Amino acid sequence: MPDIHLVILAAGKGTRMKSADPKVLHRAGGLRLIDHVLRAAAALDASTTVLVIGHMADRLREALGDRPGLRFALQEPQLGTGHALLQAEPHLAGARGSVVLLSGDVPLLRPDTLRALVATHERTGAAATVLTARVPAPDGYGRIVRRDGRIAAIVEHKDATPDERAIDEINSGIYAFALEPLFDALRSIGSANAQGEYYLPDLVRIYRERGLTVETVRLEDAREILGVNSRRELADVAEILKTTKNETLMSEGVSIVDPATAWIGPDVVVGRDTVIHPNVHLEGRTRIGERCEVHAGVRIVDSTIEDGVVVNNFCVIRESHIRSGAQVGPFAHIRPLSDVGEGAHVGNFTELKKTTLGKGSKASHLTYLGDATIGEKVNIGAGTITCNYDGTHKHQTVIEDGAFVGSDSQLIAPVTIRANAYVGTGTTVREDVPSGALAVSAGKQRNIEGWVEKKRKN
Ligand code: UD1
Ligand code: CA
Repeated sequence: MPDIHLVILAAGKGTRMKSADPKVLHRAGGLRLIDHVLRAAAALDASTTVLVIGHMADRLREALGDRPGLRFALQEPQLGTGHALLQAEPHLAGARGSVVLLSGDVPLLRPDTLRALVATHERTGAAATVLTARVPAPDGYGRIVRRDGRIAAIVEHKDATPDERAIDEINSGIYAFALEPLFDALRSIGSANAQGEYYLPDLVRIYRERGLTVETVRLEDAREILGVNSRRELADVAEILKTTKNETLMSEGVSIVDPATAWIGPDVVVGRDTVIHPNVHLEGRTRIGERCEVHAGVRIVDSTIEDGVVVNNFCVIRESHIRSGAQVGPFAHIRPLSDVGEGAHVGNFTELKKTTLGKGSKASHLTYLGDATIGEKVNIGAGTITCNYDGTHKHQTVIEDGAFVGSDSQLIAPVTIRANAYVGTGTTVREDVPSGALAVSAGKQRNIEGWVEKKRKN
């Protein structure tokens, strides 16, 4: 198979987004538009990937500079898509094979479609192959003008005659080009058109006039080439990603009570017989096991939830691990690097941060546990607080197996409560508690008889 070189256009202004951020960095389905494109393109195993940047170029370099193998070509000023592709030429000097041209703002393209485009291109030996689609409302798109069934030219909407505007086959803006004639031909494109731009689609007419072969591949599902030019279209793309993901999960045995409000990212894994209630957000690399209940209003990011877990309403869980049979919430906040053990309970208004709660342990009400390592079968009473921060440093709290922490206790870290120790209610724990001991810090209670009566008289 000959070499494939990818060029992705992202230099345009994206004016209709009305944004201070570059268009291709906006997100749909949790991923940036450009990430969707790069992922689909990965199927081609390209030898070179060039991103053409211009408008807010520095922002894009900064945001994508860590991508291995991604090269940047600067287009300044931005004189149209034909001019944009020309800027990639220095990166392809001496290269052979084909160029696949993509748009950074067309995120739903499937890897199979790209493979089909390249397969037709190579089988026919065409100089150019255009990905097309038939759409009911072709306004704004370039139209595919055919003569004797073969593509003769692409006419932009703004330049089209009424007859041409009636054509419902459109240019997706995605093409494969043989490298050999490409860059010389690009230099012969003019800008005498409605927008005064160097239009890449003009190449089709130029090639056909020179007697070179131009092929087309027509898509079945035109939604795949939906471009994002506005916030409306960004929401449309997010909606399609959501629906597709939910349909897949349901077909695999996941119950989704209200698919319209289940926002599940493309990389999220959910096991069968798990029930997802309304208004749930599952993001990033989250993995959910089988037979879990995820109740309404829950947000889970980059976390692993094992089998049989119940996440009650309105919990936020980030970068954490919830082990099988555990119960969390309602209203719990599990912050990064926490680990809730098998069968453990984290109750309402409880916050965990960098905390391990062992198997069968419970922190059922109104509690903050930060930088803590808690063993098995530990009971953390209501209102317990690990005082982990002294204003400068964070310190560790260790609570060993079987310990019991009474309600309204403060554990001033660094501190260790040994196995099976008791902390009396309302204790301020400043020193380690030995195994089997009871720690109390409050003084003896005094009752002052008649105090209320005396106060009233004054
Ligand atoms: C383009 C096609 C049109 C096709 C449509 C499909 C042209 C002239 N028209 O129109 O036939 O139906 O896509 O979505 O190509 N860009 C640059 N530099 C520039 C101009 C644009 O990098 O100087 C980039 C944009 O950032 C964008 C892409 O090229 O990623 C397409 O440009 P856009 O202005 O959106 O073209 P359309 O009008 O959508
Ligand atoms: Ca566009």
